Amino acid sequence: MSHNQFEQKSQAWSALFSEPMSDLVKRYTASVGFDQRLWQADIQGSLAHAEMLAAQGIVSATDYAAIQKGLAQITQEIESGVFEWKLDLEDVHLNIEARLTVLAGDAGKRLHTGRSRNDQVATDVRLWLRGEIDLITGLLVDLQKALLGLAEKNVEVILPGFTHLQVAQPVSFGHHMLAYVEMFARDAERMQDARQRVNRLPLGAAALAGTSYPLDRERVAVSLGMVNAQGAPQLCQNSLDAVSDRDFAIEFTAAAALGMVHISRLSEELILWMSQSFGFIDIADRFCTGSSIMPQKKNPDVPELARGKTGRVVGHLMGLITLMKGQPLAYNKDNQEDKEPLFDTVDTLKDTLRIFADMASGITVKPDAMEQAALKGYATATDLADYLVKKGLPFRDAHETVAHAVKTAMAKGVDLSSLPLAELQKFNPAITQDVYQVLTLRGSLEARQTLGGTAPAQVRQQIARHNKRLQT
Ligand code: ARG
Repeated sequence: MSHNQFEQKSQAWSALFSEPMSDLVKRYTASVGFDQRLWQADIQGSLAHAEMLAAQGIVSATDYAAIQKGLAQITQEIESGVFEWKLDLEDVHLNIEARLTVLAGDAGKRLHTGRSRNDQVATDVRLWLRGEIDLITGLLVDLQKALLGLAEKNVEVILPGFTHLQVAQPVSFGHHMLAYVEMFARDAERMQDARQRVNRLPLGAAALAGTSYPLDRERVAVSLGMVNAQGAPQLCQNSLDAVSDRDFAIEFTAAAALGMVHISRLSEELILWMSQSFGFIDIADRFCTGSSIMPQKKNPDVPELARGKTGRVVGHLMGLITLMKGQPLAYNKDNQEDKEPLFDTVDTLKDTLRIFADMASGITVKPDAMEQAALKGYATATDLADYLVKKGLPFRDAHETVAHAVKTAMAKGVDLSSLPLAELQKFNPAITQDVYQVLTLRGSLEARQTLGGTAPAQVRQQIARHNKRLQT
């Protein structure tokens, strides 16, 4: 059959089929509308496969050269936007192969020797995702650096730390930011951990059972950079598993969903803090919008949207994990549905990380409002209890004593540190003038010197550790 004939029969699979697909079925089954974004990975995978076929003497050097030349031209055509994607050719793989056959004739038709779209698509998705994971890891580093910068500037700024969203104990704003640095550091770790299982080669599994051609799978793995830290090729070791499981994509999406959850928690805080009731921060205008009816409004749209988009990514995780459930071995067309959620997860996470790294530098901290809020909430009550313990009281008794003191202060509408010494001594005669040092916000902060605690000296140590870790 000439290559022209190959093109003409594009919608029928073989002589076996006696009627063409309906237009609706064609649209329903085609993925080229979205999977064309895998084109670079597809060509990369094809080049590695063809090189190995030639090295193994399965195709001739001349055919390999023709395949290389054809794929180079296709690359150029896609990059310049002249490549014609055809719905009739279903997906990215068939589109590229058909064009290669037009350009390279029989050599193009030999490219698919010992390969199936089943191992081809699994390879493409893995190659593409590996690159995205590396970009995302870099963006997570950028975000950590931005938050670290914010922490560094605000080590001495005190805000009320909350539990149950009730004022609990004073904390350093720098310390608060470092909590998020820890979260995003773990997200980056998770990305790199998932990468190890993404970066394994399915090619050679063919349709499901392996192939009768003498393929050198290790050679392909090495040329695609699917190697471990020691440089050893990483291969999927079971052909049925290689073409069918998408756990690597699910695992990545789970890591992405967690990253978004962390973003969402931060967003929630930024939104609360920017509200008039808190007034702890301001977010630069370029990240906010106004209201079309209320002239006084400035809304924190970016964190709100990020909080909303978290639901979308968590939804993709649910979609992907449910997609896998109930699939018998080996490849099923269900798996074509892995792409849109995976692509959207990557796009959403990348955009969100970028915008947050940028926004961190546009946050204005309002130390006075934060301190006032901490003062209002009896945030140093624990410090008074600790003070009494140091004077010899058992902690439970000290706790009870302080509860009475707080009740009195509340009734008077003042802070604990505003109660005169004589008043405080009514609760326990061991209280002396030095109590006022522990009742201040700063005294409370300074006292928390445990590793990972909020004392400014500890916060500075953590900042130094992170700076060293993130140095490039
Ligand atoms: N477009 C398909 C996918 O994304 C490629 C593999 C199709 N394989 C098949 N036997 N129909 O999964």
